[in-house]
Amino acid sequence: MTNAEPNPDSQATPDAAFAGVISLDGPSGTGKSTVARRLAINLGARYLDTGAMYRAATVAALRSGVDLADRVAITRIVEAAKIEISTDPDRVSIRLDGESVDEEIRSAETTAAVSAVSAVPAVRAILVAAQRELISDGGIVVEGRDIGSVVWPTARPKVYLTAGAEARARRRAGELGADVSAVAEDIARRDNLDSSRAASPLVRPADAIELDTTDLDIDQVVARLADLAASAGG
Ligand code: DC
Repeated sequence: MTNAEPNPDSQATPDAAFAGVISLDGPSGTGKSTVARRLAINLGARYLDTGAMYRAATVAALRSGVDLADRVAITRIVEAAKIEISTDPDRVSIRLDGESVDEEIRSAETTAAVSAVSAVPAVRAILVAAQRELISDGGIVVEGRDIGSVVWPTARPKVYLTAGAEARARRRAGELGADVSAVAEDIARRDNLDSSRAASPLVRPADAIELDTTDLDIDQVVARLADLAASAGG
């Protein structure tokens, strides 16, 4: 079964000014999602949040009640799941088996389980194939952990976003309305799992442009990325 298809509501932009592929990788709390979406809007490009796909796969696993340590069972569930994600930056949405899961993918339960599901190599193979299909038409800003390293190594610009641990925790806590120290702990736990897993760990590709967002606001990061995109052509 196809595991990711363009959302039929998605307004793809075949004549987008930017025709290339921009990758934005990095840990959570670097402002990746916000800047990726804003950059896509500015460039008239599409936008793909690959983390949302891993989160939807995690919702499928949690709903099935499968043991999260059982990689074979998780793979079977994700193979059978129909994940449809919109690439329209003005209408971000994701569906699992025809049902919107926009809120459920952000729940604490999903967030706590997503590292286990995204560490399963067969799950990554399924989702990476779906991501490549969505990216192949170009004109897209893609954010994740392994886009420049595995999913689309020819992305230009290939960007790796970083930010100091405190700034990241503060930003995430602001988004979630949660306590900063609890968020800092969760970020450290996920960073560790995402960086230490055997399959496509979070790494900075050698040819990526690193951008430290600690002291930059969203507009400054978007402006910087737009400059990089302009010099990359597209
Ligand atoms: O960006 P996010 O926090 O929504 O991502 C959710 C999880 O999915 C994160 O813990 C790491 C994983 N992920 C991944 O392994 N590869 C990607 N390309 C994107 C996300």
